[in-house]
Amino acid sequence: MELEGHKWVRVFRDLEEAREKLGDLKPRALRYRDQRVCLVRNGDKLRAFFDECPHSRVPLSRGYCTNKGEIVCYLHSYIYDLGTGSELENRTGELVFFPIKESEEGIFIGFPNPPDQST
Ligand code: FES
Repeated sequence: MELEGHKWVRVFRDLEEAREKLGDLKPRALRYRDQRVCLVRNGDKLRAFFDECPHSRVPLSRGYCTNKGEIVCYLHSYIYDLGTGSELENRTGELVFFPIKESEEGIFIGFPNPPDQST
């Protein structure tokens, strides 16, 4: 999977390292430049999304995950599906995902490149 216009940042050497360093269904806050990311591992699947609740913009990484593959915001308990990004009762917007790719070189998160300002 190659996406044009993305800066790929390696977060883990491989899935084994991801399993060692990131607890199952334990949200983790990451920062890359001005991007705030919430990273979640659900078994062997990783999801990365903008670390901000679409409802009132608090960090979702301060919430918790359920064993149904959802993340629950700590502030008003809205529940987001980690697969689709939708809030379960459609009370607000969706999670904004960052693409993830795995290759022999590692596991990477794709960040949108800033617009070219050289002209
Ligand atoms: S701020 Fe997250 S549910 Fe309200």
